[in-house]
Parts: sequence; C-alpha cells; structure tokens
Amino acid sequence: MTIDYQQNDSVLTEQVISSFEGTPDARLRTLMQSLVRHLHAFVREMEPTEAEWMGAIRFLTETGKMCDDLVRQEFILLSDTLGVSMLVDAINHRYATGATDTTVFGPFYIKGMPERRYGENMALTPGTPAVVRGRVLDTAGEPVADALLDVWQTAENGMYSGQDTAQPHGNLRGRYRTDAEGRYAITTILPVSYPIPTDGPVGKMLSATGRHPWRPAHLHFMIDAPGHRKLVTHLFDEADPFLKSDAVFGVKPSLMVAYRDRPANDELARQFNLAGPYREACYDFVLDRS
Ligand code: BEZ
Ligand code: FE
Repeated sequence: MTIDYQQNDSVLTEQVISSFEGTPDARLRTLMQSLVRHLHAFVREMEPTEAEWMGAIRFLTETGKMCDDLVRQEFILLSDTLGVSMLVDAINHRYATGATDTTVFGPFYIKGMPERRYGENMALTPGTPAVVRGRVLDTAGEPVADALLDVWQTAENGMYSGQDTAQPHGNLRGRYRTDAEGRYAITTILPVSYPIPTDGPVGKMLSATGRHPWRPAHLHFMIDAPGHRKLVTHLFDEADPFLKSDAVFGVKPSLMVAYRDRPANDELARQFNLAGPYREACYDFVLDRS
C-alpha cells in the first residue's frame, strides 16, 4: 500500500509505531512507541525546516564527540541542563521516606580515589580551610557504622581534579568511613560557585538562549553502606548567590548548609591540625534500608 504522507502525515506516525509491535521485550516496545509518538508530535508542532533539522542532528553529533570514558560527558551535561536528570531523580524518589534528598550525580565523579582517615585533609590546593562533619543515620535514627562516603568538589579555580590536569592526583576527592557511632569528618576548603563546561554544544545552547552556566558552591557525596540504598547528593553553601538559578536545577532546600566561622586553635582545629581560623558545616545524612 502506498500512502500519500503529504495528505495525512498521522498515517506515517501510526505506521512507525506499529513497526515496533513485534519487539520481544515489552518495556523496550513501549519505550520506542512512546518515543516515536512524542518525537513526531514535537516535529508536527514545530514544523522545522530541513536546515533546522540538520542543525539538530549536527548538535547531537557534536555532543557525542565531546564524550569520553573519563571526565567529559556532554550528554550528561545536556540531560542536566535540560532538567531531565532532575526529573529522573524526582520520579525515582517520589515518596518521602525520611532519607536525605538526592540530587544530580554530574559528570565529574572518579572511581577509586584515596581512602582517608577521619578528619583528614583532602585539599592539596589552597582555599579557605573548612571542616564538614556529622553522622550517617538510618531512617530509625540509628547510626550507620562503616558507611563509605565518596566525596568530591572543585578547587578554588572552579575545576575538578581530572578535569584540570594541573591539579595533583586525588585533590579534593576522597573516601571517608564512618566510625562506630556513624560519625564522619572531612577537612577541606570552602567550595566555590563554578560554571559547568561551556566549550561544547551545551555551552553554545546556554549562550544562544541567554542562560548562565553557573552552579552554586557544593560538595558532592555518594554514600554507600551494606543493607542501605546508595545515596547520591550534594551539600550546598546556603550563602551562595546561584542557589535560585543553578544551571542544572539540582538545589533542594534540605541540602543547604551554613559554613560557620570558627576561631583558630579551638578543640577541633587542634584535633585536625588546622593552623588558623576556619569554617565549619555540620550535616547528618539519613539512608534508606535496601
Ligand atoms: C557537577 O556538580 O559536578 C555537575 C553537575 C551537572 C553538570 C555539570 C557539573
Ligand atoms: Fe559539582
């Protein structure tokens, strides 16, 4: 049967949808059919010129070219800046359980960073000294001993080690374990606001649409403990000017912390070998049972 698509382009859509009818995996079948339905609806609504459609294909091609296995993942950046990462996060954490809120993973995590002692300094580059400490608890309020906190943040230049090859290996990254009372402590520097990478197609999209690339200052955490659900989250500095306009929509009010001024030579400064005044943020994480 030949079809005059110019007469009735909805027949085309139905034909493509039914071409997936024989997909053995039911979930894949539903995903593909829904994708085609929404994609065709978008094209029908926007009526792109052929040049515009080629522009879209070029954009996605460039996005793929700016991905590697290590520290550059332009597709994650695209998903983040379009709010899709946070939508997937919301759908997968719909019900309040009492556990700490989650947020975007981001593209700058590196596996296998150094294991560090309680309170050890992970900053090998300069900044305002800071201690972040608290406990890891379960939803019944019981401490979680031996939880592993994988932590990462940028240096003062707004870049992550790995992304910025001039930084020493493991700078501002580390894995900390909770003690028997569920306590953790990290010596680091005050995080700074920083722009997400703008040298690729996502940067072009942001500038063409008048959006800024900045993220509010934060510290990343991935927390894992046997018998508990893995938690991926950040702690944001509550004083940051970009909290209301995070380029990747990752801020949740429950994840904001105050970095309070602390004097030189107090008990904690002596315990963690801090030479002068420093800042301190306290936060207890709560994990769901798995
Ligand atoms: C980050 O916080 O590391 C990040 C998250 C999303 C996109 C870019 C960077
Ligand atoms: Fe980050």
